[in-house]
Amino acid sequence: MIYFTDFKLALLAVSMSSLLELSFSGLVNHNSRKFSFTVNYFEDKPIFENGPRSRLNNSSGPFVPLVYWHGMGDAGVHVKHSLRFIEDQLPGVYVKSIQMGSSIADDVKSGYFRNVNDQVKQVCEEIKNDTNLRNGYNAIGLSQGGQFLRAVAQRCPTPPMINLISLGGQHQGVFGLPKCSAPKQSWCEVIDKLLTHVAYEGWVQNFLVQAEYWHDPFKQEEYVNNSVFLADINNERVKNVAYKNNLQKLRNLVLVLFDDDSIVEPKESEWFGYFRPGSDKEIVRLEDSQLYKEDWLGLKAMNEGGKLHFLSSPGDHLQFTKEWFTKNILSPFLNITS
Ligand SMILES: *[C@@H]1O[C@H](CO)[C@@H](O)[C@H](O)[C@H]1NC(C)=O
Ligand SMILES: *[C@@H]1O[C@H](CO)[C@@H](O)[C@H](O)[C@H]1NC(C)=O
Ligand SMILES: *[C@@H]1O[C@H](CO)[C@@H](O)[C@H](O)[C@H]1NC(C)=O
Ligand SMILES: *[C@@H]1O[C@H](CO)[C@@H](O)[C@H](O)[C@H]1NC(C)=O
Repeated sequence: MIYFTDFKLALLAVSMSSLLELSFSGLVNHNSRKFSFTVNYFEDKPIFENGPRSRLNNSSGPFVPLVYWHGMGDAGVHVKHSLRFIEDQLPGVYVKSIQMGSSIADDVKSGYFRNVNDQVKQVCEEIKNDTNLRNGYNAIGLSQGGQFLRAVAQRCPTPPMINLISLGGQHQGVFGLPKCSAPKQSWCEVIDKLLTHVAYEGWVQNFLVQAEYWHDPFKQEEYVNNSVFLADINNERVKNVAYKNNLQKLRNLVLVLFDDDSIVEPKESEWFGYFRPGSDKEIVRLEDSQLYKEDWLGLKAMNEGGKLHFLSSPGDHLQFTKEWFTKNILSPFLNITS
């Protein structure tokens, strides 16, 4: 006899229905807006291109190639579309926008329901296989894509990631999915309940992406012991020397925090800050954390070497303008040829 808890039953029911929903690609657009992790950057309406990914030219143009990793509820094709102004300003630049699975629906779904460690492994392989990236690349992570690309930098040093731009990435995790708790979002409610009550159980950790960077300050020890993704890449359990060495190979690590972020709780996580254990109000800044003082990841060394950049953008999560991006990110970090 298999014993199902209420949560498992609820989850099964809800994930079945949401998977069905997602299989109608016409609804993907709805879904991603519904979860409001969607990217409304540049005042663009989300646009999903149908059919296969737009073909990329095999240009060996002068600019360092780009790799994008999208956020929760979003898809690679949408990011590529929304960030096309970057390509306009870097003519001929090669862009790889990560897509998980063979369809937009799969891609969106993987933002919730596919073990991040497996996703990182696959992305590492794709990057390694792509001859256009063999001399190195700049990486741009949107929201959770920010911490996922950091894992790529730490685990897969070849080919080299040159600059990593994290746009609202949650490097110390999150505690709360505020927009997710809105009424009538049954799928979200279940995720919320799972995260609140059983985030650190093995069966949840192994399939729910958000559980893998759920950082409950009231269960700090459980988090450190059981988080299969974030506690690992932050060197909180085992101190993996390769992670520290590889991260320091970056020329620049650029952490962008959104001043009025209403999605990421706490927004300071975008700069590696977090709640003090036992509190959901008091924030410990990176510089005051053990991770920094004992330099588990090399961030202290990077900061002292001028490689760590703390930028902030006015506005809510991912609500930056082209002008802001061009001035603060594109010109200093992407407009490079080697
Ligand atoms: C790809 O190359 C072809 C032929 O050189 C050119 O016409 C086309 O505009 C290029 N596409 C992009 C997206 O740069
Ligand atoms: C791109 O061009 C290089 C050099 O011309 C070639 O070796 C490589 O196979 C090409 N890659 C793809 C994906 O077409
Ligand atoms: C990478 O290349 C290897 C060897 O050609 C192939 O077996 C593998 O499936 C590729 N992996 C990905 C993720 O493209
Ligand atoms: C965490 O792991 C340590 C070492 O294995 C163990 O002593 C401790 O009881 C664990 N704590 C929790 C809350 O699981």
